[in-house]
Amino acid sequence: MSEATHNLLPEGLDNFWMPFTPNRTFAEKPRLMVSARGMYYTDAEGNEVLDASAGLWCVNAGHYRPEINAAIAAQLEELDFAHNFNAAHPLVFEYASSLVKHFPDNINRVFFTNSGSESVDTALKIALAYQQLRGEGSRTRLVGREGGYHGMGFGGLAVGGIGRNRRQFGPLLPGAAHLSSVLDIERNAFSRGLPPHGAERADDLERLVAIHGADTIAAVIVEPITGAGGVVLPPQGYLERLREICDQYGILLIFDEVITGFGRVGDSCAANRFGVTPDIITTAKGISNATVPLGGVFVSDAVYDVFQSAPAGVELFHGYTYSGHPVACAAGMATLSIYENENLFQRGRDAEGVWLDAALSLRDADGVVDVRCHPLIAAVELAPGPDAPGTRGAEVAQRCYDRGVWFRNIGDILVTSPPLIITDEQIQQMFGVLGEAIG
Ligand SMILES: Cc1ncc(COP(=O)(O)O)c(C=O)c1O
Repeated sequence: MSEATHNLLPEGLDNFWMPFTPNRTFAEKPRLMVSARGMYYTDAEGNEVLDASAGLWCVNAGHYRPEINAAIAAQLEELDFAHNFNAAHPLVFEYASSLVKHFPDNINRVFFTNSGSESVDTALKIALAYQQLRGEGSRTRLVGREGGYHGMGFGGLAVGGIGRNRRQFGPLLPGAAHLSSVLDIERNAFSRGLPPHGAERADDLERLVAIHGADTIAAVIVEPITGAGGVVLPPQGYLERLREICDQYGILLIFDEVITGFGRVGDSCAANRFGVTPDIITTAKGISNATVPLGGVFVSDAVYDVFQSAPAGVELFHGYTYSGHPVACAAGMATLSIYENENLFQRGRDAEGVWLDAALSLRDADGVVDVRCHPLIAAVELAPGPDAPGTRGAEVAQRCYDRGVWFRNIGDILVTSPPLIITDEQIQQMFGVLGEAIG
């Protein structure tokens, strides 16, 4: 690492309002990253730390991929920007064709956005417009799940189920409802992969149908694996059951795959990995290896076809200036080539044994109440300290950082979702450090 990257703390930390951060105390112990290569970040003090979170669940091909950098630079030389409102550029079509090959067979359209939040709001709007076009305009209710995270747009917040993210912002969208969480530590603690108990929790949708009437419900959105809500895995059979109930009542099923898409669970997407096909899939993050903001909403033929019956002209009054931005498409295209050439969607399957063994080796560590793991994502949940929930998790995360591994803690839950290029040795090292830090 060159001298120039050391001690790079800026002069003042006053003008940037940091997201999801206690801004008033950040400056007491600021953590700043100045460079990244492969599995590692280097911070402003020159420490090299293994990135156990792939950034924020997004740098799936590892940091600093020259192929992506070159594609971005070349695109800027050729065409810096062209919008896609009733005109377009060729790459966006080429890229869309390459992408849909990695999604279920009946999903052949992608609507581009710039983030996970925009993908979610786009998917919810497509669902509402779809129901209206089918002559089911009374279906305006959107259903999420307790503990779910769907980004920070008003739509995503309304279906989101993390209380503290919602409380500052008033009534949000009217009529949203929530399924109950599938977290069941009592019955499922330390499951190896998908937990055995709880498929019947999907029947909660029947409860909402009974209360509100199916004719008011447009769509259900769930993360196949809850991420920001603390890594909660779907019980075996749960997603299948949810699909059945949605079909029975004419409700669209949306998988929010902003985290699980692009290799996180040992396939291109969780829909493929778990063999359950929703009507709409939202993505972002790993789609461009986080180099350029990009998201995509993948839509089934059956849903898309209904838009053919829209009155002549624009079928969906929705879009963003940067939907299908050429530079984002170039970054995404190069990212996809890396995933394909290096077989990275397969990594979660190849590493399954090592991953599950290493994660579950922490089951007897002091104060661990649950380990939830599916390659390559895991959560190690600690019993909270007596008077201060969350402090124990933060302390353990700090001790890991001091030992060269950057884990994120969500309260007392240590979560990990490393770049898919992680080696077996690094997996063992990472969980080993976590075990020491807990001890
Ligand atoms: C499942 C899920 N949906 C949506 C989002 C929002 O994505 P973004 O932060 O890119 O808007 C996230 C972000 O973590 C997410 O995990």
